[in-house]
Amino acid sequence: MKSKLLVLFFFLPFAILSAQPKVFTIQADKPVAQISSSMWGIFFEDINQGADGGLYAELVKNRSFEFDNPTMGWKITSSTFQLGINFGSEITVINQKEKEATNPRFLRVSMNNTPKGKLGIANEGFHGMGIKKDLRYDFSMLYRQQTVNSIIHIEIVSEKGAIIGSKTFKPNQMGDGWFKLETSLIATATDQKASLNIWFEGSGQLDLDMISLFPSDTWKGRKGGLRADMVQMLADMKPGFIRFPGGCIVEGRDLATRYQWKKTIGPVDERKLMINRWNTEIKDRPAPDYYQSFGLGFYEYFQMAEDIGAEPLPILSCGIACQFNTGELASLDNLDPYLQDALDLIEFANSAADTKWGKIRAALGHPAPFNLKMIGVGNENWGAQYIDRLQIFQAAIAKKYPTIKLVCSSGFMASGDVFNYLNGELRKMKISYIDEHYYSSPKWFLDNAKRYDSYDRASSSKVFVGEYAAQSVATTDMNNKNNWRTAIAEAAFLTGLERNAAIVQMASYAPLFAHVEGWQWKPDLIWVNNLKSMGTPNYYVQKLYSTNRGSYTVSMLNNKQQPAAGEDSLYASSVIDKISNELIIKIVNTVGKNQIAEINISGVKKIAESATLTVLQNNNLEAENSMNAANELVPIDLTIKTKANTISIELKPYSLNVIRVKL
Ligand code: AHR
Repeated sequence: MKSKLLVLFFFLPFAILSAQPKVFTIQADKPVAQISSSMWGIFFEDINQGADGGLYAELVKNRSFEFDNPTMGWKITSSTFQLGINFGSEITVINQKEKEATNPRFLRVSMNNTPKGKLGIANEGFHGMGIKKDLRYDFSMLYRQQTVNSIIHIEIVSEKGAIIGSKTFKPNQMGDGWFKLETSLIATATDQKASLNIWFEGSGQLDLDMISLFPSDTWKGRKGGLRADMVQMLADMKPGFIRFPGGCIVEGRDLATRYQWKKTIGPVDERKLMINRWNTEIKDRPAPDYYQSFGLGFYEYFQMAEDIGAEPLPILSCGIACQFNTGELASLDNLDPYLQDALDLIEFANSAADTKWGKIRAALGHPAPFNLKMIGVGNENWGAQYIDRLQIFQAAIAKKYPTIKLVCSSGFMASGDVFNYLNGELRKMKISYIDEHYYSSPKWFLDNAKRYDSYDRASSSKVFVGEYAAQSVATTDMNNKNNWRTAIAEAAFLTGLERNAAIVQMASYAPLFAHVEGWQWKPDLIWVNNLKSMGTPNYYVQKLYSTNRGSYTVSMLNNKQQPAAGEDSLYASSVIDKISNELIIKIVNTVGKNQIAEINISGVKKIAESATLTVLQNNNLEAENSMNAANELVPIDLTIKTKANTISIELKPYSLNVIRVKL
């Protein structure tokens, strides 16, 4: 970093002398538009192993044997059985769905003077288990037995087969009910792809369920919680909102597989597991072991939103299944369960602890309301059937909760018949936020930096850019990359969102997380393996915008008295942060050569003599960050001098520059 700094200052005077500066004028005393406090946010969906095997820190896959194949993820060792002779030692799966609808299956271990190492189960985790040396791991399981005559040995085993953590214990309660056994062990080594062995010794019959292993270093140290490194990446963005739980996952392939929030709260063993729609959705990346355990459920989403200071933005089904799949419709006279889910969710989030759903929230540990202000109805739904259903939702929600704002979809593209129809209808309905999605080429992003300049400023409907990402090859192409070409195009485009903050009031990149081995969709904002997380160049672009949000925009014009939206390959916008009394300027140089910008600031007595300049830059548009070289593209902070209300800077080739100067 130091050497980069020296290079910049060495070349600066020469460059300034040799190139014609591009002149900009900022009118710092003329606010143009307030910037919504939730302008830059996060889109979360359980895609790419985002929740199970990702954010949700559980290390055991298929912990309750509820996958379609009940032993998927497990290896059963029963050496006596393998020889074809059963000495009364065996492991079987029992289904009692008539008694236990939400968690019907369990494992029955039958022992008969069984020695250690002959009868056991092993879990492979989610592409292995990430284990850290010296960290405590919390093991738990539900068990049931009629006699106390067995010993259990648990072992964490490294990829190479070494035991890197072990514990032996005796389940000592008996009776007809389930007992919870909890113990912990310390890992003696770090391994990215460990597994868990459980050996059974002794005699008798032992029923097992909900076999679980969690690291103790979860976010805020919560037991059974979230991966701290991943939540930290989100918190570092200081996001204005978090939209959850998707995405297409909200809608379901059919109505039965839609996301139903009420089934995701309460004791984890009572949350009914379901196949993840991304299990089969992308033909080239099948993920047969991708399920939703809902260990990360709606209560945890609200809690995380609160933790990271983001407005919660839940999205619910409107009674239409994913229109890329079945498009199954709930008939209009049968919409009540869908509507009730929305009304109850608002009560769950906002009502006092003596209401039905407020009481449930309080019992879960949060007596104070979550202060929900907006709710999404439908994701990427379209057609008249969507509008018909929305009208019913709109009327019912407005009647009971008049201050709650609705977020509604304008389809899966930002133009064309589907978009035009919905955009028109939603504006007629005065829907608060219209959710636009675009997964387009980097060129599209550059060409559309002026997209919102011509939007109707009088309309009461505002724009929520709910999903966007520049695609280096094409939408859903397996070869898409999170390269600098895509990120710098997004950086340029975002100047247009910022400049039009009166119209665009929320924006989020999508998808958010991807596991290096468990992904279905590229590009993604943050990549993870079992041990660490990595920000893409796109992540740093988002972060630079959200951590430099400002309070209101001010006009910034080039020498043609135009907003900088492509002239000389430059894109720029500027805002003022009322609290720190700073002018924040963002300039993106999208060409592969240095350019000099001379920025004159009018309307203030004097700007500070020095300013901070944060630069995200690379000469190579194909550059990417990777797990082994995560710092190829990261922002670098510098200090620059100002002169008589003018800032002159050298914009490096292909660079996003953020300047903060005190007024
Ligand atoms: O972000 C991935 C998917 O793209 C979302 O689930 C869906 O809304 C969109 O089509």
